[in-house]
Amino acid sequence: MAKNKDSKETKKDIPSQSIKWDLSPAPESKGHIKLQDKYDLFINGKWVKPSSGKYFDTTNPATEEKLAEIAYANDADVDKAVKAAREAYTNVWSRMSGAERGKYLFRIARLIQERAREFAVIETLDGGKSIRESRDVDVPLAANHFFYYAGWADKLQYAFPNRKMESLGVAGQIIPWNFPLLMAAWKIAPALACGNTVVLKPAETTSLTCLKLAEIFEEAGLPPGVVNIITGHGDTGAALVNHPDINKIAFTGSTNIGKIIQRAVSGTNKKLTLELGGKSANIIFEDAAIDQAVEGIVNGIFFNQGHVCCAGSRLFVQEGVADEVIQKLKDRMDHLYVGDPMDKNTDIGAINSKEQFDTIKRYVKIGKNEGNEIYESKCEIPSKGYFCRPTLILDVAQSSTLVQEEIFGPVLTVQTFRTVDEVIQKANNTQYGLAAGVWTDKGSKIFNLTTKLRAGVVWANTYNKFDPTSPFGGYKESGFGREGGVHGLESYLK
Ligand code: NAI
Ligand code: MG
Repeated sequence: MAKNKDSKETKKDIPSQSIKWDLSPAPESKGHIKLQDKYDLFINGKWVKPSSGKYFDTTNPATEEKLAEIAYANDADVDKAVKAAREAYTNVWSRMSGAERGKYLFRIARLIQERAREFAVIETLDGGKSIRESRDVDVPLAANHFFYYAGWADKLQYAFPNRKMESLGVAGQIIPWNFPLLMAAWKIAPALACGNTVVLKPAETTSLTCLKLAEIFEEAGLPPGVVNIITGHGDTGAALVNHPDINKIAFTGSTNIGKIIQRAVSGTNKKLTLELGGKSANIIFEDAAIDQAVEGIVNGIFFNQGHVCCAGSRLFVQEGVADEVIQKLKDRMDHLYVGDPMDKNTDIGAINSKEQFDTIKRYVKIGKNEGNEIYESKCEIPSKGYFCRPTLILDVAQSSTLVQEEIFGPVLTVQTFRTVDEVIQKANNTQYGLAAGVWTDKGSKIFNLTTKLRAGVVWANTYNKFDPTSPFGGYKESGFGREGGVHGLESYLK
């Protein structure tokens, strides 16, 4: 932060520009969705009971109410699912023409669009994210991923000219809770387009939309066993990773579990892609359009409760504009709507689980203990449910725990810089390398930084923009392999 607190510029108060309206509640209706009390496993095109007979609860983190019971798959269930996937691979899916496979994927995409509202509501109820996010981001992007890879299914020879590409076999896919349906689409669509079959395990707090997706597979007439959904906790995931008849593991989640998985598959023939954590830098230069940059900072870390692996969780502001940016940011934070995720005006919904809620609180406490200045938004938050105020950690040192570790919540560290070289060095100085944002008026600066920042994605004058055609993935401990675009096909072919 600028230390010259007595200079003229830093003294002037920047008037509040955002208005917080006293909006009436505008909740999305739940009347049109159907949830069962209990969900079984989707194996070989059928709903089957878990062999242990065990189920676990899935709850709504905004109300702490139980939504449904979810089957807990054990080793025997995983084995059943892998066998079904193998049989479907050998007898049906790998023999089908790309054009035929594509037809199924197009059908799945259209069915997601038809049921978009239902998916958005269930995603929000089960995961806590704002309805605005699930309606405008998660569900449309999930459908788009199926559309996009449907188009590739019969054109693989054009994607890789003069190379003979073959499907891998059975893919085991494990996904996290921050984008449940979207991560399922990211993983299933390219796998199927390339001729593989799938066993997918959703995260234990957010299984519902993946199970709903299984209903769409049934409706689309997808041959039995081509996609199997097994629900459960970490041990279910581990059973999938360790199953001997899996050809490929695709994992998105924490770096710790990613390392365990990497160790588990080393020395086997299993192909692996890992999409892990991040600590992405959002860099604001003096010549940036400041108001837009402030919106970009808010979008980068506060929307979706900071539950984004590529969240812009480290802010770097050039000294000359630091006071202005921070003041405007605080002002904007005070005017965010935190609360009922089902309300269409809500900016920030509920934290996904009690565990994650406690993790975020623990990090903010560490920040306090390390002597950092903490700014919490003055916005109101509900008394029930897991809600966090957007928070800034100011004046923080590069070596601080909060700058180095992934928090995965609406908590933003703020550092200042003077020169381009300094900010490149600081931005690159973490174990991660998933994404970055650069805000400047100068194209030359953008090009300079995109080549020097060690991050899989670098956004310029925007943040958190996604498209099925563009590859996504990390450097260093953020993982390896790319998802999305033509690159995403390569992970599912040999
Ligand atoms: P996690 O990595 O434990 O869970 C992700 C998925 O892996 C879930 O489906 C889980 O059941 C499964 N899993 C857990 N243990 C496993 C094992 N030994 N073998 C195979 N699969 C296993 O993530 P968690 O505990 O939910 O969140 C912890 C932290 O991870 C968060 O605070 C956040 O920092 C980070 N995270 C990063 C994500 C990303 O997109 N990069 C997504 C979710 C969490
Ligand atoms: Mg967990």
